[in-house]
Amino acid sequence: MKILSIETSCDETAAAVVESADSGEVKVLSHVFDSSLSEHIQTGGIVPEVAARSQLESIMPVLHQALLETGQEVDAIAVTQGPGLIGSLLVGVETAKALALTWNKPLVPVNHLLGHVYANWIRPQDVGDDWQPPRPPALALIISGGHTELVLLESHGQYQILGGTRDDAVGECFDKSARALGLPYPGGPEISKLANQFTGDKELAAKLLPRPLIHEDTLDTSFSGLKAAFVREVNQTSQEDKQKLAYALEGAISDILAKKVLAALERFPIETFLLCGGVAANQRLREQLSFVCQQKQVRFYVPDIIHCTDNAAMIGAAAVYNYQSMEPVDLRADPGLGL
Ligand code: KG4
Ligand code: ZN
Repeated sequence: MKILSIETSCDETAAAVVESADSGEVKVLSHVFDSSLSEHIQTGGIVPEVAARSQLESIMPVLHQALLETGQEVDAIAVTQGPGLIGSLLVGVETAKALALTWNKPLVPVNHLLGHVYANWIRPQDVGDDWQPPRPPALALIISGGHTELVLLESHGQYQILGGTRDDAVGECFDKSARALGLPYPGGPEISKLANQFTGDKELAAKLLPRPLIHEDTLDTSFSGLKAAFVREVNQTSQEDKQKLAYALEGAISDILAKKVLAALERFPIETFLLCGGVAANQRLREQLSFVCQQKQVRFYVPDIIHCTDNAAMIGAAAVYNYQSMEPVDLRADPGLGL
């Protein structure tokens, strides 16, 4: 079955055609992408109105290109229903509804967060021929600009939320900290670049920032205190110290998440771990979580960076495994949709 998938929950306009293979992996036949990110750089964050207006202009060319690249008819249409920005979601949802009605094809609504999880069913580029897609039960850590969730995927369509952030999402902590340093949005990659330039005393840097809730007996996280501590430090730093601070922030975030994943793996006898969401693009975090899994003899999955940050292929992948179509007239974009 070929699925045309559409993702417009934030600043991106993305369309993909995906197909499930016998092995269980999801093949990406085409993937086209446009983003209004450059328009948001001066403002230091996404301006919802600007994003939605740009998506209205991009959606038809992006869809056209995605379909042209595969040159074949699709069997169903999947679209991100939420969570996200209402204006942005509406562009994707209303377009998908119109297509489903016109072509008389099934319409599958997808939760954006579940989409991030299913990005792990797309084969990464640098894996060997023995790579197999994940199989539930699996522990998933979803880390993005707006969410930080630790989820137990019991089977397809059945999951339990084990923990989440009590305040800021981890991506927000990266973004606001970068902003305090005068760096553009999105802040995660900028903090990483700066951290990679740090050549000073790493042990000392590791003591610079707090790690909220790290020793508490909970799978919840909290990042607002860390962000506040970072901003306080920024006000008294030189250029060399900015690199140290960026390194310290990456370290604190990686330590907190690694500790929570370890605690969850100790509580639940799980053999598969899925890292996902935009923040999963962070190299240091990927390495630290891969190490935790290696120690616990748990299979570690993480998508290619292009499938960590928002994309349409992951929405198609989630639709393959959570295929529940609905009447187009009944589908409503839902900015606050939970898991
Ligand atoms: O999943 P995503 O693309 O959009 C949302 O659903 O929110 O995640 C965006 C977030 C932003 O906060 C961005 O700063 C962060 O992912 N991010 C990173 C990296 N690349 C993107 N954070 C840390 N390191 C990175 N390399
Ligand atoms: Zn996302």
